[in-house]
Amino acid sequence: MTKVSPSMLSCDFSRLGEELVRVKDAGADWAHLDVMDGAFVPNITFGAPVIKAMRKCSDIVFDAHLMIQDPIRYVDDFADAGCDCITVHCEAEGDIHGAISRIRERGRIPGISVNPETPFEKVEPFLGEVDLLLVMTVHPGFGGQSFIADCVPKIAMGREWAQRNNRKLEISVDGGVNAETGRLCVEAGATVLVAGSSLFKLDDMAPEIASWKTYRPDL
Ligand code: DX5
Ligand code: ZN
Repeated sequence: MTKVSPSMLSCDFSRLGEELVRVKDAGADWAHLDVMDGAFVPNITFGAPVIKAMRKCSDIVFDAHLMIQDPIRYVDDFADAGCDCITVHCEAEGDIHGAISRIRERGRIPGISVNPETPFEKVEPFLGEVDLLLVMTVHPGFGGQSFIADCVPKIAMGREWAQRNNRKLEISVDGGVNAETGRLCVEAGATVLVAGSSLFKLDDMAPEIASWKTYRPDL
């Protein structure tokens, strides 16, 4: 089944614990946690202490997306806070290969993310070291933006790379994902759909999540 990872950026921050219960009860596979530092992206969200508190409210897989510079500085904090997947950006400053190794050493699932304007060639050198490729389909920093369809070929390049190298690689897509754009991404090879505004605007997100999961029932 296609996995669905609702982005908690669009939830009610005054009720984070209840919102985690809501997404799990609605059938979500993962909860996507957008960490922004005000430097790599022009916005600040939350960090490891908030995630540690959220961890007490749910056992759902925590899919942390670190939009931060020099992420190696904080890998231990996010691992200690209870993140299961930790994804860093290939465009971020600092030792990104080192950050990925540290995530692996801490027994967490390492991921690498790529921005819309960044070519596939820039992320390719990291793919042999990670289990997850997160393809951004908006400019990172804010929820509720429109899907950039030009990014879809990068999903297909990731899938081809995984097949050619005989690697099991989750390919996640993030930004402007809804029923229609999500289907396009899954057809191109995505295995995980991240979505904030299109899911949280619904009173009941369960039927939508159930429908997205059927895009690739064989996974
Ligand atoms: C953007 C974040 C996304 C965002 C997606 O920087 O990485 O996870 O929350 O929000 P929507 O689905 O509303 O585009
Ligand atoms: Zn994200």
